[in-house]
Amino acid sequence: MQKTPDDLQFYLEDTGGSGPPLLLIHAFPLNSQMWKPQLEGLAGSFRVLAPDLRGHGLTPPVPGVSTMDALAQDLHTILEQAGVLQPPILCGVSMGGYIALAFYRQFPGTVGGLILTATRATADSEAVKANRDKQMGLVHSGGVPALVEEMLPKMLSQETFRYNPGLVEQVRRIMLESSPEGIVAALLGMKERPDSTALLGQIPFPVLVVYGEDDAIVQNSEAEEMATQLDHGHLVSIPDAGHLLNLEQPVLFNQVVRDYQSILENFKLEST
Ligand code: MLT
Repeated sequence: MQKTPDDLQFYLEDTGGSGPPLLLIHAFPLNSQMWKPQLEGLAGSFRVLAPDLRGHGLTPPVPGVSTMDALAQDLHTILEQAGVLQPPILCGVSMGGYIALAFYRQFPGTVGGLILTATRATADSEAVKANRDKQMGLVHSGGVPALVEEMLPKMLSQETFRYNPGLVEQVRRIMLESSPEGIVAALLGMKERPDSTALLGQIPFPVLVVYGEDDAIVQNSEAEEMATQLDHGHLVSIPDAGHLLNLEQPVLFNQVVRDYQSILENFKLEST
């Protein structure tokens, strides 16, 4: 467990080791357990760190709004307390990607690489904001299970629902571990997050944009567009995967992360 200055206890998975640090930032409303295949499969190449964000998994909620900036500050504290000295690669899925961009905006010199997975740089549209209000209503009326049943069909591809019911159950269980206060705070935070599109053009190193071809939450075109707005964007699409592509295609996803590390190393060599 990690301690922040305001005494919030964070749950953190940390494989340790001397490899380059890789910070995995989970999607909404999941937790560090969505990174099991990466914690297992990438520990030989990286020091893999995966926290539970406020109000998710084993980390308690904080009343109010979990802004993307506040969640990014939490990550900064967690990294400091874990003794991570080398700038980490930040890999965020969906809400995790919004937080990775908020982290880069606040601490640009401390980021070694960025993997934007099934995410977008844009702010919420009015329609998405209205849907967040509906989701908050669902949590108030039916608790976390009501929200989970509404969201689950969009989190995974049709293929996964058909051929991998075990994974569907695993994702449902992880989502159910979120607290109602944490969910509402994150919905409010996502709803008020700023547009980060202008930030993309300021990132001086290669950025990986990766998406599942059957994602029902982030359109393929949004990922493609984001890659064109980066000076050094690398776009990878993963077939037979939806929103949680790291769980649906773990072998392929892990290889894409290792390849990205080589891209970063070559870029550094060429720039020196
Ligand atoms: C997520 O997977 O983190 C959420 O779907 C993101 C969102 O609701 O914008």
